[in-house]
Amino acid sequence: MKSELWKPRQSRWDAAALVGQIKRADIQLTAGKLAELRDYFWFDLCAEWDSTYLHDEIHRSENSWSQEFLAFEQAWFEDEINHAEGFLALYCLLYEEDETLVRQRLRERSPDFSPLAEFLHDEWGLSLLFAYDELATMRAYHIDVALYQSLGTSELSRFIRLLLRDETYHHANAVDLILRQDGLGFEKVSHLIDRFLAYDQQDPRYQATFVFDHEWAHVGEDFFLETAKMLKERLAKSMKKAG
Ligand SMILES: [Fe+2]
Ligand SMILES: [Fe+2]
Repeated sequence: MKSELWKPRQSRWDAAALVGQIKRADIQLTAGKLAELRDYFWFDLCAEWDSTYLHDEIHRSENSWSQEFLAFEQAWFEDEINHAEGFLALYCLLYEEDETLVRQRLRERSPDFSPLAEFLHDEWGLSLLFAYDELATMRAYHIDVALYQSLGTSELSRFIRLLLRDETYHHANAVDLILRQDGLGFEKVSHLIDRFLAYDQQDPRYQATFVFDHEWAHVGEDFFLETAKMLKERLAKSMKKAG
């Protein structure tokens, strides 16, 4: 790891307070559309909430993480919890559910990290997984912008824009960590990205792990292939420049 001090990009905001400004009557959704979107909003809420499980898994690990990785992970975790709180407020507003009961339902789920064990045990590999997964999230939220804008409140348009900015920062911060690793060749990086892609292409069941929360019905068939290609191109350019 290079020696000069690195800090993750982060911009703090309060997602639940932003959603809290919305009046239910201002949201333009028919009853049919609302019912149709229930699983979609629940899934996004769960995936953001599951950062808690990944955070615990990282800190439970016997691996000794660098200061830079820990700074990255802390900023990431703060942001994801903020996103989860925003989605929780939105879900309760849309579906008129009791927040305490929804929190209980979220806590009753339990993660299974065992299928991902090979990706979690070293810092550069996990940083690369963050770079891949956050890029996928960023691209998926980008598709969602039109939906949020159609709901008729400026707060929800702002909510999705701020989410997108945070996911962009998470991706960029993870890329920085990769580029700051000494002696990491592009071939090694490219090979691991191929393994992420192969995992995604098996359509694995999502098990509350935050990463690989990719059961998205609204993305195209080549979405993950394109994501892997974009990440490789980004890293190839920078690694070539550095080398
Ligand atoms: Fe997020
Ligand atoms: Fe993120």
